[in-house]
Amino acid sequence: TNSLASQLIQVHEQAVTLYHHVLMNTKLGQPALEYLKKRGLTDETIEKYQLGFAPGQRLLKPFFEEKKTDFKLLRKSGLFSENDSGDIYDRFVDRVMFPIRNENGKTVAFSGRLLVKDPESPKYLNSPETEIFNKRKVLFNLDSARLSIRKNDPAILLEGFMDVISADQAGIHSGIASMGTSLTDQQVYDISRITSQVVISYDGDTPGQKAIKRAIDSFANNSKVAVKIVTVPDGLDPDEFVRQRGADQFMELVKHASSPIDFELQFMKKQYNLESEVDVSNYISEALSVIAKEPSPITRDLYVNKVATEFGVGKELLTSRLVPLIQSNQ
Ligand code: CTP
Ligand code: MN
Ligand code: MN
Ligand code: MN
Ligand code: MN
Repeated sequence: TNSLASQLIQVHEQAVTLYHHVLMNTKLGQPALEYLKKRGLTDETIEKYQLGFAPGQRLLKPFFEEKKTDFKLLRKSGLFSENDSGDIYDRFVDRVMFPIRNENGKTVAFSGRLLVKDPESPKYLNSPETEIFNKRKVLFNLDSARLSIRKNDPAILLEGFMDVISADQAGIHSGIASMGTSLTDQQVYDISRITSQVVISYDGDTPGQKAIKRAIDSFANNSKVAVKIVTVPDGLDPDEFVRQRGADQFMELVKHASSPIDFELQFMKKQYNLESEVDVSNYISEALSVIAKEPSPITRDLYVNKVATEFGVGKELLTSRLVPLIQSNQ
């Protein structure tokens, strides 16, 4: 059809081809191509994701003017910025371009990454919200990952573009990205439509670990999806981990992924100084309230045992403190 959406998608497909051409075949694209190679990407991967480069000068504007593409359409595409006099100019300048596809595999937006850090400018610049793109409703790589998720691979929820792309290149094809740490209810819903199992592997840094806690709650409140958690060691992100230690090591982490309750207990424990008796006591209280949320009595018992053994506290005492907490949850 010739709907606005399909025209906008067509503009995006043309931009993908152009940015990709600049990256692969021009001198302007060389530093960006070297950058991607230095980050370990092969030609095949760059091809598969149709990565590109927006040079430090106007590219799309003259291209679409030459093609006589409708000006109003260009204004609605999100690929241009506009000044006060209504002139448009390329939004993405001097950035490595990551096409963002919707679940039908159509490119609906871009994210452009700076080659060199610049405190004045965001590391990734995304398309604005348009008729065809709402960042909160898209999961990066879902169109491609769903094929391997259907073959029973667990969906692996990652933060970023490079996490997904590196994992895919290394043989882990079921990675999707929330494109940052704020997972939306819509994204949770879309995941729940294609799988009942997800492994969350956000970055090993503090923002990533805090976001896991929020993501666990969001899956619990909005879906029946079973969640497991991989904590990437040493503050690395999955991209860095896969490149340094390989996909097999990453899959080993996935195999031993934690349950939400394990993750929460470990995460909480880090906020306490367990040399201090007051802290131990506070930690145990907080641990009991986490355990109380667990619906299975057997699982609750297992964790009470664990905490009792770990700190040398009587199991009966802990159980007696747990009971009222369970009742207040009901
Ligand atoms: N992100 C974004 N805008 C930013 C920063 C991040 O949209 N200014 C999104 C991107 O999708 C990014 C993800 O959040 O991939 C995770 O952010 P971060 O961990 O900071 O970046 P990395 O993905 O690790 O990026 P890189 O490895 O290229 O440095
Ligand atoms: Mn190509
Ligand atoms: Mn991060
Ligand atoms: Mn990274
Ligand atoms: Mn990261």
